[in-house]
Amino acid sequence: MGILQGKRILVTGVLTDSSIGFAVAKVAQEQGASVVLTGFGRLSLVERIAKRLPEPPPVLELDVQDTGHLDSLADRVGEHLDGLDGIVHSIGFAPQSALGGNFLNTSWEDVATAVHISTYSFKSLAVACLPLMKEGGSIVGLDFDASRAWPVYDWMGVAKAGLESCARYLARDLGPQGIRVNLVAAGPLRTMAAKSIPGFAEFEESWPSRAPLGWDLADTTPTARACVALLSDWFPATTGEIVHVDGGVHAVGT
Ligand SMILES: NC(=O)c1ccc[n+]([C@@H]2O[C@H](COP(=O)([O-])OP(=O)(O)OC[C@H]3O[C@@H](n4cnc5c(N)ncnc54)[C@H](O)[C@@H]3O)[C@@H](O)[C@H]2O)c1
Repeated sequence: MGILQGKRILVTGVLTDSSIGFAVAKVAQEQGASVVLTGFGRLSLVERIAKRLPEPPPVLELDVQDTGHLDSLADRVGEHLDGLDGIVHSIGFAPQSALGGNFLNTSWEDVATAVHISTYSFKSLAVACLPLMKEGGSIVGLDFDASRAWPVYDWMGVAKAGLESCARYLARDLGPQGIRVNLVAAGPLRTMAAKSIPGFAEFEESWPSRAPLGWDLADTTPTARACVALLSDWFPATTGEIVHVDGGVHAVGT
């Protein structure tokens, strides 16, 4: 018996098999969950990647900037699952001008895009799925520690600070319905999103040596396991929390 036996889980943000969402879907299935995926844009690619999971799951289209997609999401998920016990928000995007050291010159339009996709969508996704979560459940998002200003992360860092706050407000408002809302703050991982950050190599060089436990930039499994633990019944009284899966970097001075 896995820790997600009988649970119905929606996992967003799968793009490649290096996506954190892919690892979460894999570990969730290994732990007994029924999984539905969402993908953005390149659906045929996501469908191909989904076939690499232990049980190839259905793939639904979701652009979090498209209100039509959000409004129809519960019905479309409902065609495959009779409810949801968990949702994983593994979505982030910032235009190039919002990253890489251009902080003082980024336009509001580009900041707005980053915040819409990376922050506001946590709320939009949660609300879109509420009709399927009548028995309570667990919502987990992917964070990058926003308690300090990092090199090159720039407006994505601001968007993540917003995500951390958004998670606390969602925890406040959804707690009475038995829905827990938590974040996993992962260390740097070599995914498509990370590769699109100019200067990401700065993190790659320093993180493994700064982490008391060490850190493997190519291993998404520790992050996925933390997400699955938070989706399970083993954190029944935890909400509004940020679990760091970063080798311990957040806890030590440089
Ligand atoms: N890779 C890292 O170093 C790292 C570290 C900490 C947190 N995270 C976070 O993990 C999450 C997943 O990113 P990843 O690293 O697995 O990269 P990824 O590129 O594999 O995943 C990002 C996903 O966001 C999706 N997306 C972008 N715009 C979208 C939109 N408008 N609507 C719906 N989906 C959209 C992409 O299709 C993709 O599936 C992100 O929130 C990211 O910020 C990543």
